[in-house]
Amino acid sequence: MENLEQVHLQVKEIFYPPEDIKKECIVQDYESMYKKSIENPEEFWSEVASQLHWFQKWDKVLEWNFPYAKWFVNGKTNITYNCLDANIEKGRRNKVAYISVDEEGNEKKLTYGELLEQVNRLANGLKSLGVSKGDRVSIYMPNTVEAVISMLACARIGAIHSVVFAGFSEGALKLRINDAKAKVVITATYTKRRGKKIPLLPIVKEAIYDLDFVKNVIVWDRDRELEESEFSKKFVSFEELIKTSSPYFNPEVMDSEDPLFILYTSGTTGKPKGVLHTVGGYMVNTYLTTKTVFNIKEDTVYWCTADIGWITGHSYIVYGPLLNGTTIVMMEGVPVYPHPGIWWEYVDKYRVNVFYTAPTAIRMLMRFGDEIPAKYDLSSLKILGSVGEPINPEAWLWYYKNIGRGKAVVVDTWWQTETGAHMITTLPCYPAKPGKAGKPLFGVVPDIVDKEGNSLPPNTIGHLVIKKPWPSMLRTCWGEPERYEKYWKEIPGNVYSAGDLATIDEDGYIMILGRADDVLSVAGHRIGNAEVESAIIEHPAVAEAAVIGKPNEIKGESIKAFVVLKEGYTPSAELVEEIKETVKEVLGAIAVPDEIEFVDKLPKTRSGKIMRRVLRAKELGQELGDISTLED
Ligand code: WTA
Repeated sequence: MENLEQVHLQVKEIFYPPEDIKKECIVQDYESMYKKSIENPEEFWSEVASQLHWFQKWDKVLEWNFPYAKWFVNGKTNITYNCLDANIEKGRRNKVAYISVDEEGNEKKLTYGELLEQVNRLANGLKSLGVSKGDRVSIYMPNTVEAVISMLACARIGAIHSVVFAGFSEGALKLRINDAKAKVVITATYTKRRGKKIPLLPIVKEAIYDLDFVKNVIVWDRDRELEESEFSKKFVSFEELIKTSSPYFNPEVMDSEDPLFILYTSGTTGKPKGVLHTVGGYMVNTYLTTKTVFNIKEDTVYWCTADIGWITGHSYIVYGPLLNGTTIVMMEGVPVYPHPGIWWEYVDKYRVNVFYTAPTAIRMLMRFGDEIPAKYDLSSLKILGSVGEPINPEAWLWYYKNIGRGKAVVVDTWWQTETGAHMITTLPCYPAKPGKAGKPLFGVVPDIVDKEGNSLPPNTIGHLVIKKPWPSMLRTCWGEPERYEKYWKEIPGNVYSAGDLATIDEDGYIMILGRADDVLSVAGHRIGNAEVESAIIEHPAVAEAAVIGKPNEIKGESIKAFVVLKEGYTPSAELVEEIKETVKEVLGAIAVPDEIEFVDKLPKTRSGKIMRRVLRAKELGQELGDISTLED
């Protein structure tokens, strides 16, 4: 990490929250609240959980049988009761829950009362198709409120949802549906990007044609363009199902440790991991982090630009904000269409107070110039969130100055699919250091250690670990408990290994530097090197492939692939295009390599493992490091 020095130089300046924001902060004294959460977790979490509705109170806050945790043991609840019914009981029936907009300004608003009704109807609809508690339902939907209704309807009946990002293609979708053995798939005819319709239904059809366990596909026919004949016993209309089902439904009583959802995420092997989250702990921590990190008040208007296909969408478009009864903006489309000021136009239009996005988007929008955001009234903004990858100080400052206009605070939130909720950040009441995520949130005990698990002194690069269980931690990897256990066994000391490199400074601020393992971060999306490699190998001409990440100013990393062709094939521009097309089909556009280089062979260890590290060092003109294990 040769540029660490430079980064440290740039982040010397400390930014204090403006007085008016500080005054409004729900958490005024981070230090003492944090201390309590660590010294007296039982009492701390009991107090937080008591702010939510439980059909039956828990007996014990935590049962820790390394590496398996149970939180709020024997507590009974339903997360949707807290997301919906509880808000209505608090007088929010007519409060807008979602403003779901597309790129063209078409909007759909749903109040808490309306959302509850829609969710109940779909819950009844799912039941009528034979879905019950514990069954899996895959959701392959555009980033619209219909996707949210689908997720909540599952949670209402106790079915486990598995949302698949609608940018993934049929190979990736099939793998996920198959692994979860989903009984039902919920999809739409299309999603929209840059004004174009991107079909979804045909992809689902291809993905499931030989998966007999998929009993039904529920299709949201957005423009009512499907012929009557396209519906059948198997293919059911989303709108009809909602229309013809009862608006009343008693939420299933769920044990705190019953599964809530599976979300697949990239690991170091070709097959993604099905990260499993359970009801109680996930609910309590997404509730608390949303409230404290984004300082949610009764009149807050909140916008997270993520997609429901990722964990950020799950925790911070759906569950966390709903648990806090807030008004949520969500958008289908890209940040630059129909013009690169569309996000700021919507911030202005909806008077957004909390805006949460990824550094890759900030870096991209920066390029269009300061004049673009300057055209809009962004004075409603109070909190600007960042997530998904390290935010470089330059982007941090641009966000702070040109979007927040120096009157909003930036919260850089570090967390993962596995952690379920924010883990490290700088709360809005607390002084921020650009480029450093900040301090641990409540109940989180991080450390920076070497490979043997020894704590490292300040400003030394090491592995980020978490030393104690936390409520929203993953409980297992679906069907692969050994992969779950690996997180806790990777580094000695019974600690959770995050797979990230980080440093901590004298003041206890943590700076995340990037992944320590073979996982890429492309435009904030997590993609495994091995996933891309196995997609490339599906092309009939390819014998072997190795994929590396190269630093990229906007996307964080870009993908370069080294490809060895089979006998009888010669490198050509057509082959490059064909291989890219293969990756697009197997995984989706986000995983397509930017560069493909044909080589005669790949550097390998004597045991046959491809040394991506060597390829990367060569590509970037760096020292090769230890190559003693290299084959030749
Ligand atoms: C990276 C996304 C630096 C990190 C919520 C982590 C970050 C991976 C930050 C998880 C941040 C996330 N600063 N890096 N604020 N937030 N990351 O599972 O490498 O899609 O391990 O979850 O994103 O990605 P995931």
